[in-house]
Amino acid sequence: MEVIRVEGGYPVEGEVTVEGAKNSALKLMAATIMAPGVTTLTNVPNISDVHVMGKVLKYLGAKIDVTNEHELVIDTSQVTKWETPYHLVAQMRASTAVLGPLLSRFGKAVVAMPGGCNIGARKIDMHILGLEALGVNFQIDHGNIHATSPNGLKGNTVTLEFASVGATENLMMASVHADGITTIDNAAREPEIVDLANMLNEMGAKIRGAGSPVIEVEGVKEELHPVMHRVVGDRIEAGTFLAMAGICGRPVTVKGFEPVHLGLVLKKFETMGLSVDRGAHQCTAWREGPIRSIDIQTLPFPGFPTDMQAQTMCLLALGDGSCVITENVFENRFMFASELQRMGADIRIEGHHAIVHGVPGFSGAEVKAPDLRGGAALVMAGLVADGYTTVSQTHHIDRGYERFVPKLRSLGAHVERLEVPDPEEES
Ligand code: UD1
Repeated sequence: MEVIRVEGGYPVEGEVTVEGAKNSALKLMAATIMAPGVTTLTNVPNISDVHVMGKVLKYLGAKIDVTNEHELVIDTSQVTKWETPYHLVAQMRASTAVLGPLLSRFGKAVVAMPGGCNIGARKIDMHILGLEALGVNFQIDHGNIHATSPNGLKGNTVTLEFASVGATENLMMASVHADGITTIDNAAREPEIVDLANMLNEMGAKIRGAGSPVIEVEGVKEELHPVMHRVVGDRIEAGTFLAMAGICGRPVTVKGFEPVHLGLVLKKFETMGLSVDRGAHQCTAWREGPIRSIDIQTLPFPGFPTDMQAQTMCLLALGDGSCVITENVFENRFMFASELQRMGADIRIEGHHAIVHGVPGFSGAEVKAPDLRGGAALVMAGLVADGYTTVSQTHHIDRGYERFVPKLRSLGAHVERLEVPDPEEES
């Protein structure tokens, strides 16, 4: 099996450029279904989740040329299927992002029930309720969701119970050709939603208000047309490297993203004792004093992102006091804490709160990446741990971080990927 091994005590320092955002690229790829023809996406991260979405599109009939490592040329003129099979959807929950585009293009879709990160129930009831309000009928059988809209979609007002990213995106895409105006109330406001709305508008859609809690989609009759679009920079990859600068202390400059997309994260980092220098499409972080313990609660954007919770917990585990981290977005996203405890952290979980008492240091250990961000945060802990830290289940990290190990090495970390015998197979 493959592991990432980190030798502690070698701080990261220097400059690194992030890729396009995973959470944007996946939805933009799905949206190409709605514009028959050849769409070119640039700044696409070369990560395994993107490969899975590529397989989903190919299964549906699309042709994909990878013209360079970060440029996908997607021809959706021959997309003739509207069914996505379980073996692909099971690999990645975000495959459900094709539901809206397929409904929009064919008026029907069959999507297997999702899999993905093991971070809670991750239901899709809000997608379904919202689409039903637009006139879509649903039947669920044998693990598949069958969606049909025999009379076409009709604009309506949909009030989401929670500002769900996936539900907002599916509703936005499905309603592009709906009859009349669709209003999505309590919509998610993430920068990736804005990126998707921008591309759909470039393709001929009429979407207003993306980035605010009320999105209005005016249905258009004409078919959308293909475009060339650049994926927005990955704020979470950027935040991960900045958190690493915070734990190690030396300055790291992260390029290729918008610091305003990390607004609250950077503010909290400053309160925790990090220095942050915001620039145009880049940001530098470092730390001179101790890490100050402060409370954090995750919320939909512009709140503190759940995707930065593990990396921030890693910092706070070395804080100068005690604090509470409250996870409001996913109910099961503290699995990282138990792995960090194996490295000496003092964390107690009570429901959706983690009570973190700062310890002076971590000790290197064998740990398992519990999910994507938790995996990255364990490597981060290894940077400052005593001795070697070996992180297994690295496929979680590869879902969302391109060239993670080479990028860390370029910053001076002593980190490598190794093939080691699987102890479970040996016993
Ligand atoms: C997206 C991101 C993920 C990020 C999350 C929150 C992608 C590929 N993934 O996930 O990295 O952590 O936003 O910022 O873009 N929920 C329901 N019913 C629904 C939909 C959601 O109960 O119909 C719940 C989920 O279980 C979760 C919460 O709402 O507890 C937030 O989910 P959502 O915002 O939809 O996240 P995703 O789109 O899955």
